[in-house]
Amino acid sequence: MSRLDGKVCAIVGAGQQGGATIGNGRATAIRFAQEGARLVLVDRDGDALEQTRADVLDAGAEVVLVTADVRGASTPGDVVGAAIDAFGRLDVLQNNVGIGAGDQPPHRLDEDVFDRIVEVNLKATWRLCKSAVPIMREQRGGVITNVSSIASIAGTQIAAYRMSKAGVDALTRNLAVTNAKYGIRCNAVLPGLIDTPIGVDAAATALGVDRDDYAARRAAQVPMGHQGTAWDVANASLFLASDEAAFISGVCLPVDGAQTARIG
Ligand SMILES: NC(=O)c1ccc[n+]([C@@H]2O[C@H](COP(=O)([O-])OP(=O)(O)OC[C@H]3O[C@@H](n4cnc5c(N)ncnc54)[C@H](O)[C@@H]3O)[C@@H](O)[C@H]2O)c1
Repeated sequence: MSRLDGKVCAIVGAGQQGGATIGNGRATAIRFAQEGARLVLVDRDGDALEQTRADVLDAGAEVVLVTADVRGASTPGDVVGAAIDAFGRLDVLQNNVGIGAGDQPPHRLDEDVFDRIVEVNLKATWRLCKSAVPIMREQRGGVITNVSSIASIAGTQIAAYRMSKAGVDALTRNLAVTNAKYGIRCNAVLPGLIDTPIGVDAAATALGVDRDDYAARRAAQVPMGHQGTAWDVANASLFLASDEAAFISGVCLPVDGAQTARIG
């Protein structure tokens, strides 16, 4: 018996941009597939989604794709609808989409950048949860895992990303409490410095610095002395999605090599 045997799992943000490593969404899709999940994979990038489909088919999963922007008016309904049409239920919703481009400290932050980051990271996550909850209540069970960030609780120069992810943590706890009696669990994973294409390649390019130098700078900030990988985020998400976490809800779990445990 695998850890997600037959469970229908929607992973939103299951593609990834090119880079030297694997991203959190694709790694989570592959780990869920290896543990027997049936998958609904969602991303705005159709080509990236096709690559993830190939990876999860290799792992033996049944899969349907939804190519959509999380900001779209019909996207939350389309995601839940795709799960019901293909598999008749929705057991797990993993909200992985997160952006931060253009972010600044509060006094320099543009209003349109604030709006874009909050809309994608927080509002879209809430809308997807809102869409999933009724079917999970009807089923008398389900799991929602929101990918937040340690930026939601730890010091950082950037404002909108931090505010949006703090909102995701608050949403997570609220969902956990308001849906506990329906058998729905809701938790957040808070990645620290993870070696993903967006976390490292895209950031290094935006800053105009060498990728390896930037990766080394990030690693030096972590008490464990190295960045995490997308597999660390995927494995934490797998645990939270599985029945092994049956009594765990409302938790915001850092996956950060002890970074948030360090003061000073
Ligand atoms: N990489 C890190 O160091 C790090 C640290 C803390 C938190 N996180 C969080 O982890 C999550 C995943 O990050 P990652 O770096 O692994 O990226 P990833 O490789 O998982 O890619 C995210 C995917 O989201 C998709 N996406 C972006 N905007 C979208 C939209 N509007 N609609 C639909 N799809 C959209 C992208 O096309 C991409 O395929 C994010 O929520 C991020 O905030 C990452």
